[in-house]
Amino acid sequence: KGDSALSEVSLMKKQISALEGQLKALQASFAKYQKVATFPGGRTVGNKVFITSGYEGNFDDMKQRCLQAGGQLASPRNAAENAAVQQIALLYQKPVFLGITDIQTEGKFKYLNGDTIVYSNWHPGEPNNDKGTEDCVELYGNGKWNDKSCGEKRLIVCEF
Ligand code: IPD
Ligand code: CA
Repeated sequence: KGDSALSEVSLMKKQISALEGQLKALQASFAKYQKVATFPGGRTVGNKVFITSGYEGNFDDMKQRCLQAGGQLASPRNAAENAAVQQIALLYQKPVFLGITDIQTEGKFKYLNGDTIVYSNWHPGEPNNDKGTEDCVELYGNGKWNDKSCGEKRLIVCEF
């Protein structure tokens, strides 16, 4: 009985060491895949990935495209996430629509899930609801935000 328990332990040791090798290989291949998947228009911040397809469209169009892909429109919740979206705007030389609007209540900007925003980076003088028609938010190449008409066409950036 003692012998068979011993051989079971040594078998398990072999199995664990095989699994460790497989995990290491998987980690290496995942690290490489992350680089591939975020080249050139993607940025990772913690567990969040921001990425563009380079497509430009109006707010409703892009909101749908991100949802259909299993993500949502970029909604930077802190300075590091905002800087990641800014880098994408700079790379493509195009402002980006964020997943933030005051469609529900004028002047109260919320995420698409209805929560009030926890972070903002407004350009001086914004949001100004210019002509009374600006319920969406664009992020400029300098990282600052401007409220803008949702019908304008801007670069799509989704987050996953
Ligand atoms: C406007 C200005 C304004 C901003 C508006 C923009 P336009 O651009 O940049 O400062 O608040 O959202 O639409 O109409 O003068 O080209
Ligand atoms: Ca504005």
